[in-house]
Amino acid sequence: MSRALKVALLMGGTSSEREVSLKSGGACAEALKSLPHTVEVFDPATDLAKLVERAPDLDVALIMLHGPGGEDGSLQGLLDLLGLPYQCAGVLGCALAMDKPMAKDRYRSRGLPVARDLVLRRGIDGDPAQRVLSELGLPCVVKPAREGSSFGISIVHEEAKLAPALQAAFALDPVVLVEEFLAGREVTSAVLGNAEPEALPLVEIIPGEAHEFFDFQAKYQPGASDEICPARLEAADTRLIQELGVKAHQALGLKGYSRSDFILTERGPVLLETNTIPGMTQTSLLPQAAAEADMDFPALVDKLLELALEE
Ligand SMILES: Nc1ncnc2c1ncn2[C@@H]1O[C@H](COP(=O)(O)OP(=O)(O)O)[C@@H](O)[C@H]1O
Ligand SMILES: [Mg+2]
Repeated sequence: MSRALKVALLMGGTSSEREVSLKSGGACAEALKSLPHTVEVFDPATDLAKLVERAPDLDVALIMLHGPGGEDGSLQGLLDLLGLPYQCAGVLGCALAMDKPMAKDRYRSRGLPVARDLVLRRGIDGDPAQRVLSELGLPCVVKPAREGSSFGISIVHEEAKLAPALQAAFALDPVVLVEEFLAGREVTSAVLGNAEPEALPLVEIIPGEAHEFFDFQAKYQPGASDEICPARLEAADTRLIQELGVKAHQALGLKGYSRSDFILTERGPVLLETNTIPGMTQTSLLPQAAAEADMDFPALVDKLLELALEE
């Protein structure tokens, strides 16, 4: 992007991923210093009125918010009303991707492989633990419908742990998704571009011994997991997961970029979810994938701004 832009950098927010957002936003602020653009920072937790006031003087927003209130379409709606373009998917795409059961409906309608599951509504769908045991079985994975960073997620092997896991997820969301446990290697597939989104190299994630899965600490504590890029997979699996990443992006009607998580099981890759505003610290998964494709962190930030301004 050769033109100098006035960038609204949005970071912080009110979701459980606030701290992660501050890290992503901080890394982008640092990168923007090496680019010709000027930056104004807004925290939606306190600065929405200021953002509305300043919007007419700004060119583009870089939304570095994760989870509800930043990645779920609500802020995207405000920016649409303000006429300020941004780097990620729009209202509908963000809302669909944030809601795991809704996203899975879209994936299924496009024939994309997903885990068997059960969707439970708090106080409406009978005794949730009984239903999981009779309709899905153990081991299973319990997740709040609309969170990120593995907040509220448990892997349940024993019946005695099921009710507490459901309770923990229901504490965060009135809708809970329970999935069959998938054994296999974990891989994430990032996509970049507007009209013809292209897959970046895959990243394989190996949580450290202290972590049964890619939980919050495995994600953010340096050294708590190994992340290998490009993932060491057969060429055919690599191609397939890259293709599925693009199809997941398209199934949800996304824009700019996204990152979809997969488990490569014995029956092939299974799609878990798609992130419309993936983590953006220097060592986050999507920036690692971009680096492998010879795009350093400031170049990636600049590319996102360029895609935001494209028709
Ligand atoms: N069905 C599953 N089987 C096995 N592990 C899973 C399953 N679903 C999620 N996980 C583990 O939990 C992590 C977080 O789940 P994910 O659906 O990606 O939600 P989040 O939005 O919190 O990242 C995954 O990266 C993976 O390690
Ligand atoms: Mg994930």
